[in-house]
Amino acid sequence: MTVLITGGAGFIGSHTCVEFIAAGHDVVIYDNFENSNPIAVERIAAITGKTVPCVTGDIRDQPHLEAVLQDYNCQAVVHFAGLKAVGESAVKPLAYYENNVQGSLALLKAMQSCGIYKFIFSSSATVYGTPEFLPYTEDHPLQAMNPYGRTKLMIEDMLRDLYASDPKWSIAILRYFNPVGAHESGLIGEDPQGIPNNLMPFITQVATGRREKLSIFGGDYETRDGTGVRDYIHVVDLAQGHLAAYDFLKIPGCTAINLGTGQGQSVLEVVGAFEHMSNQKVPYEIVPRRAGDLPEFYAQTDFAQKTLGWRAKKDLREMCKDTWNWASKNPQGYEN
Ligand code: NAD
Ligand code: UFG
Repeated sequence: MTVLITGGAGFIGSHTCVEFIAAGHDVVIYDNFENSNPIAVERIAAITGKTVPCVTGDIRDQPHLEAVLQDYNCQAVVHFAGLKAVGESAVKPLAYYENNVQGSLALLKAMQSCGIYKFIFSSSATVYGTPEFLPYTEDHPLQAMNPYGRTKLMIEDMLRDLYASDPKWSIAILRYFNPVGAHESGLIGEDPQGIPNNLMPFITQVATGRREKLSIFGGDYETRDGTGVRDYIHVVDLAQGHLAAYDFLKIPGCTAINLGTGQGQSVLEVVGAFEHMSNQKVPYEIVPRRAGDLPEFYAQTDFAQKTLGWRAKKDLREMCKDTWNWASKNPQGYEN
């Protein structure tokens, strides 16, 4: 039984490959390397001691996907491939609809034509929009606030319609909160191209001297210290959540599940924990709020625990320790 992992060379995909291989599954990576590096595939092999088949291809290429699904005798797909930068999605919306929505459509059509009905989808807490209550439960109303979020919501809707049309499908929609951290080996981790959009990679690049200081977007939110609060989750916990979801796919259905820790941490708390675990100073300045940012959100995690028997185990200190281990060993990312 082989699992096709689209976007398997990326940040979350590479860690998920490691967990699937360690659990004894055969995987094949399918990636166009638009936002990743083939060295990540070599590193997955170094961690697991197994050769990792990898096909270079684009999820919008349905005939190629069908050939790969058949050649590798795939039984399930974990779908990470896509574009993910919220700000860029407002500048290039068509690229996001094409890559994320059209790509997912081509992938699902390829699966259907090959008779493969097990699917795990990378969704995001962004589909909840402005919180009507916190923590977000899976039945919180859905409302995307930018083109990226709308692509995720459209794909979720497509999946619900697909299952309603054919109950053979087993679909897990995993709504990630804020993934950070790295594999404890320091061999794989997050390697953003250009200026990082997200907090942890930015902090890391300040600590390694690649950037002068962190801009904290807003110090006047109604949160405990005025800075934004998020539910940061260690990427290895997140990867293990996919493994638990894969077991859950034995039962047909289409189920959305939050993957978070249930704990909110402020920007200043993350900076403090990172400085403590890395023994590095992270100079910062508080600047105006970033447009579109929410003050605070975090997950209700009971449903994940009940349905998947999974919960996140690693705390913020471990997230910072493993991020620093990766960053200090790979200060220029995979291109050392
Ligand atoms: P990433 O950019 O590191 O990984 C995505 C991978 O997909 C990359 O290897 C990229 O080269 C590949 N890819 C992109 N378009 C492709 C295409 N058309 N065909 C084939 N491969 C393609 O991102 P990540 O952080 O690992 O995120 C993985 C998924 O999780 C994404 O769908 C993202 O939207 C979702 N997600 C991420 C976060 C986060 O904060 N990282 C939060 C919520 C949801
Ligand atoms: N922040 C800063 N400075 C920075 C970067 C971020 O102060 O340089 C702050 C933000 O204002 C926010 C917090 O750090 O308060 C986290 O910001 P991120 O950009 O790391 O994460 P977001 O919560 O804004 O967004 C992330 C993903 C989205 C996803 C969302 C919900 O980037 O794709 O989580 O899952 F939709």
